[in-house]
Amino acid sequence: MSQYETPLFTGLLEHIKKNPIQFHIPGHKKGAGMDAQFREFIGENALAMDLINIGPLDDLHQPKGIIKRAQELAAEAFGADYTFFSVQGTSGAIMTMVMSVAGPGDKIIVPRNVHKSVMSAIVFSGATPIFVHPEIDKELGISHGITPEAVEEALRQHPDAKGVLVINPTYFGIAGDLKRIVEIAHSYGVPVLVDEAHGVHIHFHEDLPLSAMQAGADMSATSVHKLGGSMTQSSILNVREGLISPKRVQAILSMLTTTSTSYLLLASLDVARKRLATEGHELAEKAIRLAEKTRQQINEIDHLYCVGKEILGTKATFDYDPTKLIISVKELGLTGYDVEKWLRENYNIEVELSDLYNILCIITPGDTERETSILVKALRDLAEQFRHQADVGVKPKVLLPDIPVLALTPRDAFYSETEVVPFEQSAGRIIAEFVMVYPPGIPIFIPGEVITEENLNYIKKNLEVGLPVQGPEDDTLQTLRVIKEYPTKPLR
Ligand SMILES: Cc1ncc(COP(=O)(O)O)c(C=O)c1O
Repeated sequence: MSQYETPLFTGLLEHIKKNPIQFHIPGHKKGAGMDAQFREFIGENALAMDLINIGPLDDLHQPKGIIKRAQELAAEAFGADYTFFSVQGTSGAIMTMVMSVAGPGDKIIVPRNVHKSVMSAIVFSGATPIFVHPEIDKELGISHGITPEAVEEALRQHPDAKGVLVINPTYFGIAGDLKRIVEIAHSYGVPVLVDEAHGVHIHFHEDLPLSAMQAGADMSATSVHKLGGSMTQSSILNVREGLISPKRVQAILSMLTTTSTSYLLLASLDVARKRLATEGHELAEKAIRLAEKTRQQINEIDHLYCVGKEILGTKATFDYDPTKLIISVKELGLTGYDVEKWLRENYNIEVELSDLYNILCIITPGDTERETSILVKALRDLAEQFRHQADVGVKPKVLLPDIPVLALTPRDAFYSETEVVPFEQSAGRIIAEFVMVYPPGIPIFIPGEVITEENLNYIKKNLEVGLPVQGPEDDTLQTLRVIKEYPTKPLR
């Protein structure tokens, strides 16, 4: 088979062409039985492809036909031994990775700034997280990855760990020395699982960080939908055989996956893989060039700073993805969220994310100079409007609280007897729920951690400026759910 083929997409087109009379779900039957306004908007072709796992169309849970062939082509394109398609996003692929290596009581080494799906899988599996603290960038107020030294130390103390999970690259596009981390973990016979949600494209260009499979990792959960051109919610799970059993991975992925898998999502993975494999280098090159030019233009604007390769050189900033534009706005006396709103209201621009100090814009092959020039113009206008605040010259202080102490495993905390207490009186108690800002979805608290005043203040600061703090049952955050018991001593 060649990378120019699309067995799944082509198989669906052939099936649709036969125009069979459908006595199966979905009940809208090619759109005939659904709301007319929606049907007209979304179009006949999309509705004709909204199919289900009937005989000719294979089955994601036990692929033997067109899905199997599409997955094999994806494995070849990504340098994996096996690739599994996920219609449960990268979250589903991440949960599968964690649950394929760690069961009740097993240790798994993870950075503390993991996406919530990692912690959810740790709660489901009953594994014990061994946290490795990420490197903190005090200038930008963001966390980077973990260092090989920190992984080595964690493995020295916990050689019985069942896996090491690495975020590579981070949401902000920063990569650690993954190859070295893999070498260290493998010297202990421990597999490396990579959260590659923000790195589907990096495999296809030498100027981008090494991909998980290139670095020799054992599994990677890779968001094709984020930066690889497939539809939202479609992702892949790449597997290298050896320390991992692909059969177990397939079984666990299947346990976590709907039985009604969307063929729109699956077909979009097939065509995205073809484009990446056959044109990925050229597309990445275009995005890199456009991003570099935009970065340079932004850096010519007073009081704004767009992060570039000068960030490299620390142990956790080994490489970076230049297509991510991290724009620090703190000098203007504004929060990232203020700028997000300002850009929306004044220029109809939507950014990828904002936090207290930065906005993040992503440049992909879908962008042209038309869009980036509007962004640069908007940022010039912003800097001009708020220059008076910057000229005051007060150096803004970056607030980034310490990581709380873990007093119970996340699973024990999740299933303990709990009570609700006022937010203001919760310091010193053990939290029973997640609290995070989304995006990026990285927890401020995970179940089992001891609440501190410093972290409560950080939550308040995020709420005050309007950032979306999520997770607790009480979404007004007047109260938090805590464990009835008081903490005695830290878990480790
Ligand atoms: C670092 C990281 N990992 C995993 C995910 C989950 O990906 P998905 O939204 O495809 O489930 C995200 C989503 O933003 C993420 O930022």
